[in-house]
Amino acid sequence: MTNHKLKLITTEDGSHSLLREDLNETYHSFHGARSESAYVFIEQCLRYYAEQTKKGRIRIFEVGFGTGLNAFLAAALAEENKVALEFHSVEPFPVVREIFEQLNFGQTPEEQQLLHRLHESPWESPQSITSHFSLVKHETTLEGFSAASDFDMIFFDAFAPSKQAEVWELANLKKCFDLLQPGGILTTYCAQGQFKRNLAAAGFEVQTLKGAMGKKEMVRGVRN
Ligand SMILES: C[S@@+](CC[C@H](N)C(=O)[O-])C[C@H]1O[C@@H](n2cnc3c(N)ncnc32)[C@H](O)[C@@H]1O
Repeated sequence: MTNHKLKLITTEDGSHSLLREDLNETYHSFHGARSESAYVFIEQCLRYYAEQTKKGRIRIFEVGFGTGLNAFLAAALAEENKVALEFHSVEPFPVVREIFEQLNFGQTPEEQQLLHRLHESPWESPQSITSHFSLVKHETTLEGFSAASDFDMIFFDAFAPSKQAEVWELANLKKCFDLLQPGGILTTYCAQGQFKRNLAAAGFEVQTLKGAMGKKEMVRGVRN
């Protein structure tokens, strides 16, 4: 698929992100890429669910692999807490090597190696990345994705509705609802009104939580 022009940027917590120049849209909050991902997807989704359910094996579906930051942070949590994570992610526009090699998410050479392994991991087949983390990357869109419907959670990390409205439409949110098991959850950094109404219309219980990095709100959807 087309390679869009991407520019490496440094956000306010020192971690990198990317700017997609044609959309004038960044992959993360300008106030802190790593801090935002850690809060929205790791704390308010993965850690929250793991603590609530005490499950030893969790299946995650991510919308938008991008820089691999969410997968990277999830893999660290898996090792730390000895929880087995099976991480599936869709990405129609993979980030090329010249760019992912520059990303500074790891704080040690070992962590940087882990980030690179996530990016180098082949598409469309399950790969064991660490003893507790396996990854399946699908080179497609959310719209084009199909899989068995038993995910525990969804990291909904698409570009903002103002830039890519189609990804946030009701049909996609219904698909997300169907991909989750009962009790499963979805989180996203976005708390736009129309999105929340679509989420409710898709069947989710909508929880509005305090947002990350100066954002007033974020959303968690629960499939009851
Ligand atoms: C906000 S960025 C976040 C990516 C990633 N989670 C990260 O932390 O870098 C959104 C990502 O969604 C991808 N994307 C664009 N259209 C998509 C679609 N229709 N379905 C799934 N992902 C899409 C973009 O290419 C981009 O990588």
